[in-house]
Amino acid sequence: MNILDEIIPMQFKNTEAFAKELDAADALNRYRDEFLFPKVNDKQVIYFTGNSLGLQPKNTQIYVDEVMKDWAEMAVEGHFYAEKPWWDYHERLAEPLSKIVGAKPSEVSVMSTLTVNLHLLMVSFYRPKGNRYKIICEEKAFPSDQYMLQSQVRFHGYDPKDAIIEIKKRPGEHNFRKEDILDTIAQVGEECALVLIGGVNYYTGQVFDMKTITKAGHDVGAFVGWDLAHAAGNIKLELHDWDVDFAAWCSYKYMNSGPGNVSGYFVHERFHNQKDIPRFEGWWGTKKETRFLMKPEFEPMANAEAWQLSNAPILSIAPYLASLQLFDEVGMDAIVAKRKKIVAYLEFILSEIDKEVDSTFEVITPSNEDERGTQLSVFLHGEGRELFEYLMKNGVITDWREPNVIRLAPASLYCSYEDMYHFGQILKKGILSK
Ligand SMILES: Cc1ncc(COP(=O)(O)O)c(C=O)c1O
Repeated sequence: MNILDEIIPMQFKNTEAFAKELDAADALNRYRDEFLFPKVNDKQVIYFTGNSLGLQPKNTQIYVDEVMKDWAEMAVEGHFYAEKPWWDYHERLAEPLSKIVGAKPSEVSVMSTLTVNLHLLMVSFYRPKGNRYKIICEEKAFPSDQYMLQSQVRFHGYDPKDAIIEIKKRPGEHNFRKEDILDTIAQVGEECALVLIGGVNYYTGQVFDMKTITKAGHDVGAFVGWDLAHAAGNIKLELHDWDVDFAAWCSYKYMNSGPGNVSGYFVHERFHNQKDIPRFEGWWGTKKETRFLMKPEFEPMANAEAWQLSNAPILSIAPYLASLQLFDEVGMDAIVAKRKKIVAYLEFILSEIDKEVDSTFEVITPSNEDERGTQLSVFLHGEGRELFEYLMKNGVITDWREPNVIRLAPASLYCSYEDMYHFGQILKKGILSK
């Protein structure tokens, strides 16, 4: 047992020495050196926006350079003779990804981008028929999800106002209540074709009980899918065991694969060999044994790759593979264990600083560690955008959401306890210097 296991939040201290002690006992602390940090005023920033775009791992360059070299030296021959041949390059991601999302390797793959993949998966899993045409989602879902759902129901000839049922928060509350989600599903009942929710809410960081909600959706005969943009690489997932039908996530947030990069997706194995499942298809989804025979018939791969369309964008998935190598080495258990402690420490620092200044910080993320991941969303009552700008100028990268919420996500792989301490000091200075 080390100091990190023994310390409970009550015993935290808001001192540099204490933060350093925590770092010294943190087995993940050395991974900080595996990442490239931007600098402000010649100092490495305190980076809280891994929930938006993760930092670049140093090994990314090596993976990309390898592809560039193979391309320069082999051109088309690289498809088969590169160090990591391109024609099945994407298969290398399935094993490490499956561990991150709790799936079988055959259930996951990578392609395209998140919104595109959710649309493609809805071809298979949003199949409105008769009375069953409604989609349940959370109110104020990430805008791309809202546009996606609206355009999907319109595409099928429905009115979004009728076909999309939003789960509401109770007045004055920041988070959704599980009982309200389950009640909504039960009420919509046999009219519900699909439940599609963000597994971790992008604004508040609330984690949903995906297992229970998935079962509730299945109980009314609906498909259940998850947008895991803020969940993958952040919280422990068990997609296979939770019996989730489908899911997709982006790789550029907690998984550090680079701006706008490819998305991972999951299709439960029970759909893999379903002959009549509707799906948009392309040549990368057809059996690889016969793919290059260029036959007119589509023979689906016997796994999630049947949903693949195009040949893989190797220069995009190379950084994703580089990052997954780090995840594989560290493992989700260690990432989650550190996340719980560093987020608790950050919460403690905020409460300490709160006592020393006039403004009030209201953490709107659930306080229960099972209902939150790496992100704390904080209402800065009495503060405006100037504080956010002050933080940025002083080397603290956070993000600002209207009206005055900052989101702080101390990623386990590269944030330190000392970062949390220094953040508190800069925050205090920013408020007191007004
Ligand atoms: C919850 C959520 N869904 C969807 C998206 C859209 O992702 P993309 O632009 O990769 O399609 C994002 C992007 O940040 C997101 O946070």
